Amino acid sequence: MSQKTWGGRFSAPTDKLVEQFTESISVDSRLFPHDIRASQAHAVMLSEVGLLTTAEAGKIVAALDDIREDLENNRIPFRTALEDIHTHIESELIFRLDKQGLGDLGRKLHTARSRNDQVVTDLKLWTRDSIDMLDHLLAELQRSFLDFGLRHRDVIIPAYTHMQRAQPVLVPHYALAYVEKFQRDRDRLADARKRVNVLPLGAAALAGSSLPINRYSVAKQLGFDEVARNSLDVSSDRDFAAEFVFGLSLIAVHLSNWSEEWILWTTTEFDTIELPDEFCTGSSIMPHKKNPDVLELTRGKTGRVLGHLHHLLVMMKGLPMAYNRDMQEDKPAMFDAADTVTASVQIAAALVRKAKIKTASVAARLDQGFLDATTLMESFISRGVPMRTAHEAVGLLVRECEQKKLKLSDLPTSKFDEVCPGEGAAVRAVLGVANSIKAFQSYGSTAPHSVETQLKEWQAKLA
Ligand code: ARG
Repeated sequence: MSQKTWGGRFSAPTDKLVEQFTESISVDSRLFPHDIRASQAHAVMLSEVGLLTTAEAGKIVAALDDIREDLENNRIPFRTALEDIHTHIESELIFRLDKQGLGDLGRKLHTARSRNDQVVTDLKLWTRDSIDMLDHLLAELQRSFLDFGLRHRDVIIPAYTHMQRAQPVLVPHYALAYVEKFQRDRDRLADARKRVNVLPLGAAALAGSSLPINRYSVAKQLGFDEVARNSLDVSSDRDFAAEFVFGLSLIAVHLSNWSEEWILWTTTEFDTIELPDEFCTGSSIMPHKKNPDVLELTRGKTGRVLGHLHHLLVMMKGLPMAYNRDMQEDKPAMFDAADTVTASVQIAAALVRKAKIKTASVAARLDQGFLDATTLMESFISRGVPMRTAHEAVGLLVRECEQKKLKLSDLPTSKFDEVCPGEGAAVRAVLGVANSIKAFQSYGSTAPHSVETQLKEWQAKLA
């Protein structure tokens, strides 16, 4: 007899090439804990509705526990002929229960179930676990950035637009900008989790089952919040996979932005950050080199994750309802995207903990690049000068300083009086980065009191 779960209809064995081409065990074996958990819930439900006796379900659940233990210890060899993890576990169950003298009992487990609803149930359980783990790791990463901000509480750095010096900011303001981004990443995954947590099992092949199954029992046992309303929809649905990988993609993009920034900051030209030696590598020929390879690889791996998102969307776009074998290709994409982002988040959290701003080097250059120009302009505006007039006047002052190699604070008070008569001395109060920072007032700004409020809020939230 054929080893295949679907062998009955066929007179010729599957071509070896086809077996190789269609197998997914090399990828989906990692779903075994989820497959076993879902099968156990399914067996219990079958006994509740009278399709198995309680004793039969008990035997199946126990045998599946043993199979899990053997899989955990690599004691069950995988065979291409058995296609995927679902078939491996089911055939192992059938074999073991038969050996125990229980005859055909194992052959009852797949009652009212198809691999179509089985695989997506397993995948949703895996996705849910991945989201929960990532949430944990992202919180750790947020704590690293918060700690980085706290360690540089009063340090001012230049912030850039178009990679040109723009305005001064406090390091904790900069660090908390990343904390905000990673919070959105967490929120996005939490939102996607709602749609992950809808039970597919019981959709069977695509139309449901004529047997009296109770899907609510399975949902409850497996911690699903809802039962999918439409069997056709849920067996064809991989929206959750795309949403998950999109969530991962944005995390990867945020990490890539940060990597790019810190790679620049490690250069002699920027001389802004010191990375821990343990997180850098050397050159085989240039003895002086200390390279930021971890940051470069974090940036580089982002391409893989974005590629997986594209792959999933393209894979789905040509499919008619409902399950099509194309969908087996969801797993390599999801697994690699999750593994890549997990590793990147973990290493980023560890690296940020030990990185230090080169405060002396940064401070020595803070009076370059007119970081206080915008605040000077606003100081004129607050004294009644129309915005466009103030903008033009400060632009002219900057041009003059550039020609004479001066800072704005080097100009005589009379220059400021020309813009706003009688107020020249007063506007000087915002010149220089430290004064500039203190002048900020708006909600969410880099003003010291605003940053302190943000720090306290995040400390409480991430405690
Ligand atoms: N290995 C398959 C997958 O990952 C399981 C579902 C196969 N279903 C089927 N009817 N061939 O998608």
